[in-house]
Amino acid sequence: MLDLWIGLKTMTTIKACIFDLDGVIVDTAVYHYKAWKRLANELGFDITEEQNENLKGVSRMRSLDLILQWGGVTKTDTEKEELATRKNTWYVEMINKMTPDEILPGAKEFLQSCIDAGLKTALGSASKNSMTILEKVGITHFFNAVIDGNKVSKPKPDPEVFLKGAEELGVLPANCVVFEDAIAGVEAAINGGMKVVGIGSPDVLGKANLVVSGLDKMSLEKLESI
Ligand code: BG6
Ligand code: MG
Repeated sequence: MLDLWIGLKTMTTIKACIFDLDGVIVDTAVYHYKAWKRLANELGFDITEEQNENLKGVSRMRSLDLILQWGGVTKTDTEKEELATRKNTWYVEMINKMTPDEILPGAKEFLQSCIDAGLKTALGSASKNSMTILEKVGITHFFNAVIDGNKVSKPKPDPEVFLKGAEELGVLPANCVVFEDAIAGVEAAINGGMKVVGIGSPDVLGKANLVVSGLDKMSLEKLESI
């Protein structure tokens, strides 16, 4: 009886799922890396895959600042705008070639189970290219709301992106669960008063309510348990 009550209580608590895009639904980190590496090379230095790890979930301009810092290069704001645009042109060339095969395992299936269970779904991503990626991999229709880098001004760990998602869905933050692969994203969800499922390693995303290696390891049962 207690189990049933807890189950019902939890089911009424979770009303929406908000998904980060890069690293949760698709793996675009490799394309960001190729484009940033090309830019760094043009500037006369290189960046490693390890350094690229520190760029996950980080906004475009902040990423550029970090890369310039690693290369010991100083640029004016106008030059930085030009460099970020150059990198983005190469990145967009690559994501324009993306296909549905690049959706990470279990992502579509889990989104469909959420929809079938009557939960609302939103995308909450820092990327200004989110819509292009969703269209290229053919999953735009899975989301009731899309909040991307064009709609927010404060980067994660500020909760703005997820709070806007909750607002657009008409669901209170306390009734939302966020799915995130970046530490800053997990913190953003917590800062917004939401529950969070980390996608990746518990060593890195330990602050999350639950950590799974991918959406293929997620289920409604696990969602109800958090
Ligand atoms: C995040 C990525 O989702 O979006 C970051 O993890 C990226 O690596 C950021 O810098 C901004 O993306 P975009 O497409 O607007 O340059
Ligand atoms: Mg991410």
